[in-house]
Amino acid sequence: MKESDLKDKIDINKLPVHIAIIMDGNGRWAKKNGQPRVFGHQNGVKAVREATEAAAELGVKYLTLYAFSTENWNRPAFEVNALMTLLVQTLRKEVQTLNKNNIRLQAIGDLEKLPSKCYRELLEAIEKTKDNSRMTLVLALNYSAKWEITRATRLIAEQVKKDTLKPEDITNEVFANHLATKDIPDPELLIRTSGEARISNFLLWQIAYAELYFTPLFWPEFRKNNLYEAIINFQNRERRFGKTSEQIQT
Ligand code: IPE
Ligand code: IPE
Ligand code: MG
Repeated sequence: MKESDLKDKIDINKLPVHIAIIMDGNGRWAKKNGQPRVFGHQNGVKAVREATEAAAELGVKYLTLYAFSTENWNRPAFEVNALMTLLVQTLRKEVQTLNKNNIRLQAIGDLEKLPSKCYRELLEAIEKTKDNSRMTLVLALNYSAKWEITRATRLIAEQVKKDTLKPEDITNEVFANHLATKDIPDPELLIRTSGEARISNFLLWQIAYAELYFTPLFWPEFRKNNLYEAIINFQNRERRFGKTSEQIQT
């Protein structure tokens, strides 16, 4: 279907405010094409551009992309280095485009443990785009939900120990305010490419009520139309939040 035809099927008044994507399948895509895994990562950048542009054009306010998990350090050093180099290159190259499109960059994860060159490049890109307001692009880098939840627990425990917070005052909201996503609304739609139906330690707290969408496409194949398809699918679901269908319809 033509890009514009699918786009027209989206109800602009019922857009998810926040979409999160587990960008998976770069390696398998490369293999399918008889190329080394790193070739897949390089070609994943185009899909990042397409998803970002499509989301911003529609009016989505937050797009979170899972780019590197705390578990991904366990890959061969060669691949980890290639991913970090690609990150630096892409950040450097795309800052201008982000500014042109009025997109603010943010990042979640244990960022200080990234190689110092990546960390500096990332902070610079965040600083240079901080006043942009159309959409926030959040990169999850050296991120995992268990890292994030453990860290929040530690921060809260320290306050209880210092007597600045009472255990009975720890609510959902207080806990959420200690997560890396504290200023970001929870994603309503979570997309994973490559056909795997798992979460892989991504945003466990925040996706409590997200709609999950799995596509067999490998990440380097993902285009604007595929984001539109996911959003149309999302808009046809009934989100009940524990209530009955009848309660939702009245
Ligand atoms: C996703 O693609 C990118 C990262 C996890 C960094 P993969 O590299 O996981 O590709 P597959 O899943 O091995 O095909
Ligand atoms: C999840 O993909 C992490 C990212 C997309 C950055 P993985 O390829 O690392 O996930 P698993 O290991 O197959 O679950
Ligand atoms: Mg993978």
